[in-house]
Amino acid sequence: MISITLPLPTLPTSDSSYTVPMKHTITSLAVTVLAEDTVGFDTPFLGQHGISLLIDASVGSNRTRILMDVGQHTDALLHNMALLEVAPASIDVIVLTHCHYDHTRGVARMIREIGRSGLPVVAHPEIFRPNFELTPQRKDIGVAREDGAEAIRAAGAQLKLVRTPHSLAPGVVTSGEVARTTPYEGENAGLFTQRDGQTVPDPMMDDLSIYAAVEGCGVVVLTGCSHAGIVNIVRGAREVTGMDQVAAVVGGLHLIVAGEQTIARSVAGLQEEGVEQVCAGHCTGFAAQVALQGAFGKQFAPLRTGQVLAWPG
Ligand SMILES: [Fe+2]
Ligand SMILES: [Fe+2]
Repeated sequence: MISITLPLPTLPTSDSSYTVPMKHTITSLAVTVLAEDTVGFDTPFLGQHGISLLIDASVGSNRTRILMDVGQHTDALLHNMALLEVAPASIDVIVLTHCHYDHTRGVARMIREIGRSGLPVVAHPEIFRPNFELTPQRKDIGVAREDGAEAIRAAGAQLKLVRTPHSLAPGVVTSGEVARTTPYEGENAGLFTQRDGQTVPDPMMDDLSIYAAVEGCGVVVLTGCSHAGIVNIVRGAREVTGMDQVAAVVGGLHLIVAGEQTIARSVAGLQEEGVEQVCAGHCTGFAAQVALQGAFGKQFAPLRTGQVLAWPG
C-alpha cells in the first residue's frame, strides 16, 4: 500500500504539451551516473551491467528530477543513491528507454521506494513485448513479468506510453520513435520478437532517448543503449528541439557489437553533426571508446558510476 505523503510533480500530462520546435530551455542540467558497467579506481560505488542516469533539469531554482532507466540491480542502485545523497522520494518521473532487462529490472520495486502515488513512468507503447536472443539459445531479455505494466501500476505509478516526443519538463523531452536515416545504424541483429505468432527480427522501435535543451550550451542527448543509432538520435535531437548546437552525448552507444567500419562511420557521423562532447559507456565497447578518444580528445570521457556531469560547465 502506497501512502501519499508528498506533493505530486507538476508534469505535462499529454503529448499536446509538446510543440515542434521546443519553445523552452532549461538554465542548468546535472547528470549523475547512478548505475553503469564500470566503476572508477578506489571508489565506494557499486557497478552493474546496465545503466541508470539521474537528470536534474532546472529553470532557475525550479528543478525536475528525472530517473532515466534503473539498471538491473536495485540494491546496487539504492546503495549508490545513498552515497550520493539522492533520496528516492525526490524523483519526479521515470523514463524507461527501452525494454532490456539491464535498464528495466526492478522498476516496480524502485517505484515503491520512491513512494509517490501517481508517479509518471514514460516509455514506448511496445516496451512490454517479448524480446529475446536465439544464439546460443533462447534468452529473454525484455521487461520481466514482475516489472510489467500491471506491476508498475500496482506499485502506484501512472504509465505514459507514448510513441512521439513527450515533454518531461519545459526544455526536456523524450525523443519519441527515432527515424532511422543513416545507412549504417540501427540494425539490431540478433534481437527477436514475436508478431502474429511468428518469430521475427526486432527493430527496437521502442528505443527512446532524452533531449535536454540547455540555455547557452545547446542540446544534451542522453541515451540508454542507442539501439536506434547514435547519429540518428542526434539528428532527431536537432529536429525535435530546434537547436543546432549539440553540447554533448551521454550514455550507451551500443557499438560493442559493431565492426571497425561501423564504429568509424558512427564516430565520423557524430563529428559531422558537430557534437561537442561525448561521455559514453555501458554498451559502447572499448574499441569505440578508443575511437571516440582519438576523434574527440579531451572532449571524450568514459562513463563511470558515481560521475556527475553539468551544463553549463
Ligand atoms: Fe543496455
Ligand atoms: Fe539494450
